[in-house]
Amino acid sequence: MPEATFHFPPGFKWGVATASHQVEGNNTNNQWWEWEQQEGRIKQGHTSGRACDWWENAEADFDRAAAMGLNALRLSIEWSRVEPEPGRFDNAVLERYREMLRGLQQRGLEPMVTLHHFSNPLWLEQQGAWINEGTISYFVRYVERIVKLLGDQVTLWCTINEPNVYAVMSYLYGLFPPGQRDFKATRVVLQNMLKAHGAAYRAIHRLQPAAKVGLAHNLRFFDPANPRSLLDRLVASVLDRGFNRATFDAVWKGWWSLPMGFGPAWSLRHTLDWVGLNYYTRDLVAFDRGAKETLFSRLTHAPDAELLDGGYGELYPEGLRRAIKRLWRMRLPIYITENGIPDSDDDQRPAALLLHLHQLWKILQNNIPVQGYYHWTLVDNFEWAEGWTLPFGLIEMDPATGIRIPRPSADLYTAIVRGNAITPALLDAYAPRLRPRILPD
Ligand code: FCB
Repeated sequence: MPEATFHFPPGFKWGVATASHQVEGNNTNNQWWEWEQQEGRIKQGHTSGRACDWWENAEADFDRAAAMGLNALRLSIEWSRVEPEPGRFDNAVLERYREMLRGLQQRGLEPMVTLHHFSNPLWLEQQGAWINEGTISYFVRYVERIVKLLGDQVTLWCTINEPNVYAVMSYLYGLFPPGQRDFKATRVVLQNMLKAHGAAYRAIHRLQPAAKVGLAHNLRFFDPANPRSLLDRLVASVLDRGFNRATFDAVWKGWWSLPMGFGPAWSLRHTLDWVGLNYYTRDLVAFDRGAKETLFSRLTHAPDAELLDGGYGELYPEGLRRAIKRLWRMRLPIYITENGIPDSDDDQRPAALLLHLHQLWKILQNNIPVQGYYHWTLVDNFEWAEGWTLPFGLIEMDPATGIRIPRPSADLYTAIVRGNAITPALLDAYAPRLRPRILPD
């Protein structure tokens, strides 16, 4: 029987990723909390509530992460806690974050800190948040405060999580607050967030020259349903431009490209020290002349695809490799800032984890400098409009009791991390059917 062990580079960063609103609990002062109280907004009427209780006791989960052998953890700072009213910063809150960050360091978990992950202070939302260009200077002021006070604990900063997803979900699909469906607003919001990223990049470097600053981009492939159809190819490329390419044209090339118009964005040029990839799935795109609202596109899945729970799309691990290759055109260090699947009974996750990490291993053989992998996520958490219905955790958690039970995938990830490798024994134990797919003939 063919055997091979797939080793990862020494010092590779193995982590998990989270976001403040999804785990902290009682984030009553942001736009999500307000949204959750409105009927019909969140699946099954769920609310974030105490979430995973991180504000009170993140340390219990830090212990779990450390016990798994991880050496990295990505979390976000909740702006609405830090600055509950415009210009008033809460020192006790900053002290709590300092305590958490110190707790991570003490456990050998290097923190990556995201400064904005979907949630806005309510006062900002009430002024229109990212629809206003004025939000950029508010954001920079908040970022400066954070870096001044917490910069001795953190060098790895992620300015904004998924500007593309935030803009599209909140302003095009209307599924995130404020629930608008307006193409122009979507474009303005995306543009303001990218400008804010650029301004924050410079502000962080002014205060902390050794900082490593990036952003996390959700790269989702839009592949033509029928590659021979010119129209399918055309609509797929339009979606790809808007969702993927425009972001990097701005923050790397310093250029606004469609749908953001056409023209220079010089101040945004090269505002990345690294790039973060959040990779989940892909879509196939078919031209549909009736679908004006979605730019004449209809999303489908490959007929032979293995589908994920909760309508989450295709299991498509090859996309991870394709996405990394694409980002590598910028010749920047890469972090996989999120990757995972929703799967409550854990019947797909072990194989999914192995397949994605095998794709990552392949990329590393080409000397592409992927520095780390942050699995989404450690413990089941509040999944935005999907509430508690999408369990992404390596560890299962009952939101009513907070009781946590590790899934088999937690043991698998632990074994991979501890050995810094995928071994045939792990394939045999967790997903024997993958042998022919992963091991060489
Ligand atoms: C990403 C978000 C993250 C989480 C995962 C499943 O788009 O960044 O907060 O919800 O999806």
